[in-house]
Amino acid sequence: MAKLEATDFELIVNPIDGEPTRAWVLEKIADPEVVGACIMHGQPSDKIDREFLDAASPNLKVVSTFSVGFDHIDVPYANSKGIKIGHTPGVLSNAVADTTVMLVLMTMRRVEEGIRLIKDNEWPNLPWAPFVMCGPAIGHPNLTIGFLGFGRISECVVERLLAFTSKSAPPTILYSNSRARDNQAEIDAEFSSRFGVTVRRAEKDEVAAQSDIVIVLCSQSPATIDLVNAEFLKKMKKTAVLINAARGPIVNSEDLAAALDAGEIFGAGLDVITGEPKVYADHPLVKHPKCVVIPHMGSADYDTRNAMADLCVSNAIAGVTGQPLIAEVKV
Ligand code: DGY
Repeated sequence: MAKLEATDFELIVNPIDGEPTRAWVLEKIADPEVVGACIMHGQPSDKIDREFLDAASPNLKVVSTFSVGFDHIDVPYANSKGIKIGHTPGVLSNAVADTTVMLVLMTMRRVEEGIRLIKDNEWPNLPWAPFVMCGPAIGHPNLTIGFLGFGRISECVVERLLAFTSKSAPPTILYSNSRARDNQAEIDAEFSSRFGVTVRRAEKDEVAAQSDIVIVLCSQSPATIDLVNAEFLKKMKKTAVLINAARGPIVNSEDLAAALDAGEIFGAGLDVITGEPKVYADHPLVKHPKCVVIPHMGSADYDTRNAMADLCVSNAIAGVTGQPLIAEVKV
C-alpha cells in the first residue's frame, strides 16, 4: 500500500478485510478512470473472465495478480483487449518448496494420524511396539522421486529433499512435463550435474510406476486436469506417497480417496484440493487418516507474501505507466 500511495494515482481499495463482492468489483472496474487492477487468486470475485473483462474500463491497461498461478485469468482474452497480465513468479518458490517438503515428511511419517490419535485421547492405548506409527524412510537407499511439472519450485524442492535422502545410495529424480525437447539429453545432463544425482525426463506412467514420492507441481490447464486419476494411482507403488502443491483439479479427489481406501498408495499430502475453499470436515480426503490436507498455504510466510505484494504492485505501476511489466504472463 505504501508503494501505491506514493504514486499520483487515485486508489480504490476493497473496503472489506476479506473478499469483496463480485458486484462491487464489477462496478468499480467499469469506471473509465480505472487503468490498473491488483487482484488476489482463489476467490470468485477476482475471476478475470469475459464478464470481468467486458465490464472493465476501456482504459484498463493491466491486471496484476498476487499469485504466480494465473488459471483464474483468461489471459488470451485480456491480451486481445490490450490488457497485460502481471504475476509473481520466483519470489514464492522457496516458500512453496518448504511447504512441499513439509507435506512429504508429514505424509511419509504419518503426522496426521499421530496428531488425530492424541486429540482423540488414544495415545494411552498406543502400544510401544517396534513398528507402531512407522512409515517409509526418506533416507531409504535408491529412492525415486517423481515430479509432474519441473519448474522453479520443483528445483527448489529437489535442493531441499537432497538434504534428507541417502548419500551412499542417492535418489533418482524423474520428471514429466508436457513434451520432450530436441536437446532433452543435454537438459537432463545439466540438471544431473547441478544436483549431483541422476535427473531425467520420463513419461508420466513411468513417473507413477517408479516413484516412491510423486510430487505434483505443474500448472493447471485443460491438459493437466485429472492428470492424477484412477489409472495413474493404480500404477503407483503401494508404499509411495502423492503430494499436490499445485492446483486441486490436477488430482481427481474421488479417485484419490478410493486409492487410499484400497491401500493402492501409502498416503497423500495436499496443499490444494478441488472445490477449495468450500472443503469441510466431512470431505472424504479431509476425513482420511492417510491424507494430510492444508488450506492452500504454500507461499504463506511473511517474507514471501511481502515480496509477492511488492512484485504485484510493481507490475501494476509498470503497466499503468506504460513500462514493461517486471513479470508478465505470456501464453
Ligand atoms: C500462487 O501464487 O499461485 C499460489 O498458489 C496462490 O494462489
